[in-house]
Amino acid sequence: MNNQFEGRSFLKEIDYTPTELAYLIDFASHLKTLKAHHIPHPYLQGKNIALLFEKTSTRTRSAFTVAANDLGANPEFLGKDDIQFGTKESVVDTAKVLGSMYDGIEFRGFKQSTVEDLATYSGVPVWNGLTDEWHPTQILADFLTLKEHFGHLKGLTLAYVGDGRNNMANSLLVAGAMLGINIAIGAPVALQPAPAVVALAQQYAQAAGSTVVITADPQQAVTQADALYTDVWVSMGEQVDYGERIKQLLPFQINTALLAATGKSSTIVMHCLPALHDLKTQLGAKLGEQYGMTAFEITDDVFQSKQAVVFEEAGNRMPAIKAVMAATLGNLFIPTVDCKINPNAVRTKKISFP
Ligand code: CP
Ligand code: NVA
Repeated sequence: MNNQFEGRSFLKEIDYTPTELAYLIDFASHLKTLKAHHIPHPYLQGKNIALLFEKTSTRTRSAFTVAANDLGANPEFLGKDDIQFGTKESVVDTAKVLGSMYDGIEFRGFKQSTVEDLATYSGVPVWNGLTDEWHPTQILADFLTLKEHFGHLKGLTLAYVGDGRNNMANSLLVAGAMLGINIAIGAPVALQPAPAVVALAQQYAQAAGSTVVITADPQQAVTQADALYTDVWVSMGEQVDYGERIKQLLPFQINTALLAATGKSSTIVMHCLPALHDLKTQLGAKLGEQYGMTAFEITDDVFQSKQAVVFEEAGNRMPAIKAVMAATLGNLFIPTVDCKINPNAVRTKKISFP
């Protein structure tokens, strides 16, 4: 084993130490530079990668595909309607079969337990491309974007407003705290993060010297924020009443007034995408007509403004994912970046949701 990442899965942020996460962000930046300078980096030459998608995707699927190709690997897309997974074959049996053929597996879907089981039973590195609980490759790209913009992460303040208990809120809250970013979550009480997630973030924030604020007051949440972040108000797979969700989250919409409430002119605006910032989608048009809205979680003027870095984040998904795949499967020489914590102990840490 050449490095501490080799052979490991990336299932949620807390599987890694803060130093390891920081390393992956910097490694992503390095790989981005190599690509920009047309320097080949075929670290996964001859490897085969399964891309398993229970939910739809534009960015994650494209990023894994392009990253695999750049690394010299062969990616194979296995959509929910293409394979027996879940309908005729169990997760465990599927994991054993895929693990016998593929060198690495990406999974996007509903349950966190599915991606954990795939890792346990396949015997190859498994990478979480989003579950209902975490979106770990997204935050690597987001924090790479933040670092590119501000030059550092520690001491920055990021305010996430909207659905505070979805995968993005969980990942930004915990991983942000791990990396010393002050995190504020602005969400109505009914949509605030689970106590277990808040406790985890507080524990990491204490170690990193950063702060965690959970508030139902949107103005308080965004005060002095260097970055404002939001996500869709209804996540993939959620069966909720849109009208009710809109009523709950409208005060947390990112618009010019909320942006001004940060009190800083340098605040950047982030979104993992896709975004309902206008009515130019089938869903946006339908909801706009039904509820008399022109935008949802973010208004179009802010989305299109110079302060928005949403497409930089999207572009950074590829080097971030490439870094995870190369570090865990590339048999690279990586000097030990954190010898304090036994990675096996970190890997088995479980948290429970209500
Ligand atoms: N941000 C993100 O995960 O985008 P996709 O759903 O298009 O993959
Ligand atoms: N919370 C969103 C993130 C999409 C990238 C969802 O799960 O649909």
